Amino acid sequence: MTSPSTMVAFSLSIVVTALAALAQAQTPNVSLLIDDPYYYDLAQSLDVRSLLPFVSLRKGAAFHWGSTYSYPAAAEANWTSEKFSTYWGHIVAENDCKWYATEPERQDFTLSACEGVSQYAAEHFATFRGHNTFWHNQLPAWLPGNVTASDLVNNVIPTHVSTVIKSLGWNVTSWDVTNELISDTATYNMTSLECVLNADRWPTVTYDGGSTPLVTNLSFAYAAWRTALMYDPGKLVYNDYSTGAQDAKTECVFQLIADLNINASIPYNRMGVGFQSHVGAQEGYYVPKAELETTFARLAALGVDALVTEMDLWIQANDTINQRYQAAIWGDYLDACLYASNCFEFVNWDNRDDTSWITPGDGHGVAMATLFDMYGNPKPVTYEIMARFARYAEGAAEMCATALGTESCTVY
Ligand SMILES: *[C@@H]1O[C@H](CO)[C@@H](O)[C@H](O)[C@H]1NC(C)=O
Ligand SMILES: *[C@@H]1O[C@H](CO)[C@@H](O)[C@H](O)[C@H]1NC(C)=O
Ligand SMILES: *[C@@H]1O[C@H](CO)[C@@H](O)[C@H](O)[C@H]1NC(C)=O
Ligand SMILES: *[C@@H]1O[C@H](CO)[C@@H](O)[C@H](O)[C@H]1NC(C)=O
Ligand SMILES: *[C@@H]1O[C@H](CO)[C@@H](O)[C@H](O)[C@H]1NC(C)=O
Ligand SMILES: *[C@@H]1O[C@H](CO)[C@@H](O)[C@H](O)[C@H]1NC(C)=O
Ligand SMILES: *[C@@H]1O[C@H](CO)[C@@H](O)[C@H](O)[C@H]1NC(C)=O
Ligand SMILES: *[C@@H]1O[C@H](CO)[C@@H](O)[C@H](O)[C@H]1NC(C)=O
Repeated sequence: MTSPSTMVAFSLSIVVTALAALAQAQTPNVSLLIDDPYYYDLAQSLDVRSLLPFVSLRKGAAFHWGSTYSYPAAAEANWTSEKFSTYWGHIVAENDCKWYATEPERQDFTLSACEGVSQYAAEHFATFRGHNTFWHNQLPAWLPGNVTASDLVNNVIPTHVSTVIKSLGWNVTSWDVTNELISDTATYNMTSLECVLNADRWPTVTYDGGSTPLVTNLSFAYAAWRTALMYDPGKLVYNDYSTGAQDAKTECVFQLIADLNINASIPYNRMGVGFQSHVGAQEGYYVPKAELETTFARLAALGVDALVTEMDLWIQANDTINQRYQAAIWGDYLDACLYASNCFEFVNWDNRDDTSWITPGDGHGVAMATLFDMYGNPKPVTYEIMARFARYAEGAAEMCATALGTESCTVY
């Protein structure tokens, strides 16, 4: 006779076995380029900068590979400078070009910190991208609740966008004109306006979470884009997170860029879509390469660029299988961009694990989400990236999606 307690133990063992199987399925055994002794040796220098001219030559236009900069502590200044001289060749200001930093009081602009990041890029012979001219977060206190809709659309936004963009001039590859307008709970067949209103974010509400609508149409977005078109010589980018797959939020991105094209007269060939790519090394928490490529190709057909703008990738556990999975996924994202006809910028977010905004727990596993560890040392992904660039620069054909695991993709 089976006692209730044995039944519990029995079903528990099934659950544990099932969970173990699930965990195994979520962290596949992957194949990496750096398993090949040729690429392993080649990757040791981590001198990606020396490869970028050859990458650009194959792409037919400059390829920008970079990360964030935010005036590091003295102890990390030399490390940072060395990385922006050898590993990354492109820089985005983590915070210093945002609205709260650039216009802390109305029409009283403080652009020196933002311009200083551009200056730092120039000193490192690196290129610079702008982030951002419009976002509902990191706003100055004077703004969100204290202006009328018509003042916002007709004065506040045009003044802000034109002043910030003009201050950086011709040194910018692209600007994130509007950041994160679209709802996380978007559904298929929403109009672009519905995609935005559903987010319940300022300025379609008075404050985030507040219920009083400030603007009820997309005039605020048109104002930002029309102004950017006048002053920005580079690409104008719509930037967002949890996008890139074949899903409703990404569908909203296509609705929004069509709306901007028709109603704000923004030519598609001046536009880019930024895929932030704050992702995790667990099935369902990153976009499979094939889906990214489908999305990038759909943009290419319109004449719109695709950019990876803020990549970081947390892992579930601090062990070899997870570190390798991280390298495989990051490598797939890079390949998706390299082999796309319309992707010329790939930017990572935060330079090392000790300064990353992704911290352990909080649904982010053990974090370890950047390209260098907490001491600034390289990881498998750091080398794998160098190997992917080398392979592309050599003219090799695109390879399979390594994140699918060795059963579907063995590299060599
Ligand atoms: C991982 O894949 C490689 C290549 O297919 C294989 O040799 C190795 O045994 C696999 N390791 C595990 C733990 O399954
Ligand atoms: C950084 O490098 C400079 C020049 O090589 C050196 O003088 C300085 O001591 C270094 N700073 C730190 C914190 O290592
Ligand atoms: C480009 O950047 C350099 C270095 O920061 C600066 O001296 C120059 O004025 C900038 N050019 C424009 C057009 O802003
Ligand atoms: C704008 O509104 C915010 C929130 O109510 C308030 O804290 C702030 O003091 C106001 N600023 C100005 C300049 O009125
Ligand atoms: C609704 O969205 C689905 C998925 O994109 C699409 O197949 C369908 O054609 C859409 N329907 C309408 C009426 O647009
Ligand atoms: C859109 O909203 C703005 C700001 O509230 C308003 O001034 C404008 O009349 C609206 N446009 C349309 C077509 O409703
Ligand atoms: C342009 O705006 C109108 C009015 O808001 C809207 O009905 C239409 O769908 C928009 N066009 C596109 C392509 O989104
Ligand atoms: C990850 O594991 C390695 C090897 O055990 C250890 O040296 C390192 O401190 C760990 N890192 C973190 C962030 O726990």
